[in-house]
Amino acid sequence: MSSTQGRIKRINGSLVVAEGLSDAKIGDVIHIGSLKLIGEVVRIAGKDVSIQCYEDTSGIRPGEPIFTTELPLVAELGPGLMGGIFDGLEFSETEIWNLVGPFMKRGVKVNPLNRKKKWDFTPKVKKGDKVIGGDIIGSVQETSVIEHRILIPPTIGGKIFDIKKGDYTITDNIATVQMSNGKKKDITMMQVWPVRIPRPYKSRIPSTEPLITGQRVVDSFFPIAKGGAAAIPGGFGTGKTVTLHQLAKWSEAQIIIYIGCGERGNEMADVVTHFPTLKDPRTGKQLIERSIFIANVSNLPVSAREASIYMGVTMGEYFRDQGYDVAIMADSTSRWAEALRDISGRLEEIPAERGYPAYLAERIAEFYERGGTVITLGSKQRVGSITIMGAVSPPGGDFSEPVTSISLRFVGTLWALDTNLAFRRHFPAINWLMSFSRYTDLLVDYWSKFDPDWLKFRDRALALLEEASKIEETARIIGEKALPDEQRLVLLISEMIREGFLVQNAYHEVDAFCEAEKQAKILRLFIEFYEMINPLIKAGVPIDKIREFSSIVEIMRLKERKGLEWIDKAKEKAESEVDELAKQYEILS
Ligand SMILES: Nc1ncnc2c1ncn2[C@@H]1O[C@H](COP(=O)(O)OP(=O)(O)OP(=O)(O)O)[C@@H](O)[C@H]1O
Ligand SMILES: [Mg+2]
Repeated sequence: MSSTQGRIKRINGSLVVAEGLSDAKIGDVIHIGSLKLIGEVVRIAGKDVSIQCYEDTSGIRPGEPIFTTELPLVAELGPGLMGGIFDGLEFSETEIWNLVGPFMKRGVKVNPLNRKKKWDFTPKVKKGDKVIGGDIIGSVQETSVIEHRILIPPTIGGKIFDIKKGDYTITDNIATVQMSNGKKKDITMMQVWPVRIPRPYKSRIPSTEPLITGQRVVDSFFPIAKGGAAAIPGGFGTGKTVTLHQLAKWSEAQIIIYIGCGERGNEMADVVTHFPTLKDPRTGKQLIERSIFIANVSNLPVSAREASIYMGVTMGEYFRDQGYDVAIMADSTSRWAEALRDISGRLEEIPAERGYPAYLAERIAEFYERGGTVITLGSKQRVGSITIMGAVSPPGGDFSEPVTSISLRFVGTLWALDTNLAFRRHFPAINWLMSFSRYTDLLVDYWSKFDPDWLKFRDRALALLEEASKIEETARIIGEKALPDEQRLVLLISEMIREGFLVQNAYHEVDAFCEAEKQAKILRLFIEFYEMINPLIKAGVPIDKIREFSSIVEIMRLKERKGLEWIDKAKEKAESEVDELAKQYEILS
């Protein structure tokens, strides 16, 4: 594959400057030195070609040969991706471990997708059928839960001249297309696609369905739409990774792509050893049957993180194009931005805020823009989506730093993690005063199925929480007992919503996932409860009498109860306690 040859001129960490590569273009993949380390051209200045090397450059010397492949960094796409653990350059971590163990991988290259394995291909078109780019010509049952649809590549179209059926490898010809100019094109189950270029689609459509995650604070308060984007910034140890894991496990997406973008090695090793053991709550099978991991487990240098985001999103687009709802989790985009900063620094570019390059915002925007709901290419109408959720790790938890503040411009949902909540072990530590969702209005239709007044109750609950936080400030000065009972009631309800709704234990058998209908019903009950009590308080019933209600405990425990019938029971209990108290105080209802 290697064509023109040059020579290494100098090396500065992961940046290699070469000369003699007259045909190189920006983005070309380069093989560096006798070890053939992988790099990408990042700048061409006269005869000097600067290359970002994705592997440790120690031991490589000036004068060693260098080759351009004249090809950009590509992803191999085809059967064999599911359940795979790849690094940012799509080398299979598992294959490499098998070859050389976890740490000694410099220069060791294996094909991302298995070339020998045979897949049972079932055709869905026949000889003579007209096809265009994006059409499904057949499928392979890749795992027990994922049908891998084989697509005509975007640039090909014509008539099916030949189509096979049966066991083939990803590089065997499974079809031949006769193009309109008479030329024949062979089709394999594997496609390659340059990772930095978005895959084409017919058109974008608005996202109007929520991606239900079973996490109450997310779905009910700060929902994300299918095809939407969310950022989850949080200081050290606030729960970014656990939350993303919860979302990976429970989201109603068909395909999960988890990008461990240069987080600490041991954390990624955790993901890689932990995930394959996870049961998929939705299918009863293994979660890895519908997930792909991009994880720089072995200690690749910073620069390799930069590619991993693009690798993951390209795989996401490929499954989107097959008509799937894909969810991509990136942990963490800050590490990716730091890789950009590192590369930019070595190129001696003029730094902008906190040393990040001036094009940071552009790159973050491009990443989030690869999400969305689209009508795919192909002659039949097909819709697919990519939802992106990116963790951000602001140094010192300071949300005004560039990566956090820029991300917020391009996402529709913010789940702001709060160090104080995490410290009090209120998990998920999503701060309800700082977080937002721009999708709420779009999702009213969906929620109306369960409750026509969903938005009203949701907004009321948020308003009560907000009011409570103001009252708490006063309470800190004068003491809670000195507050008027109306305000103490707001504090009581807000405490109930916090403990009984917002707090959700990722490790509890029932609580870990809460279906949408249950969320809507419980949320409504909190507000109804408030509205039942309010007249009592106004009529002079002391708040302490209310606090004695056993229905309060019942309501707060609903989240841990299986079955919706408990919600009505708790409500009846509350009503009878209210009636009794009203009688006692001779209040007419
Ligand atoms: N939803 C949750 N339920 C229960 N415990 C949680 C939850 N979220 C976080 N935790 C607790 O918080 C700890 C830290 O969470 P996590 O590792 O996700 O933080 P992080 O923000 O990713 O940290 P880092 O900045 O180090 O990457 C977890 O080990 C766990 O004990
Ligand atoms: Mg983490």
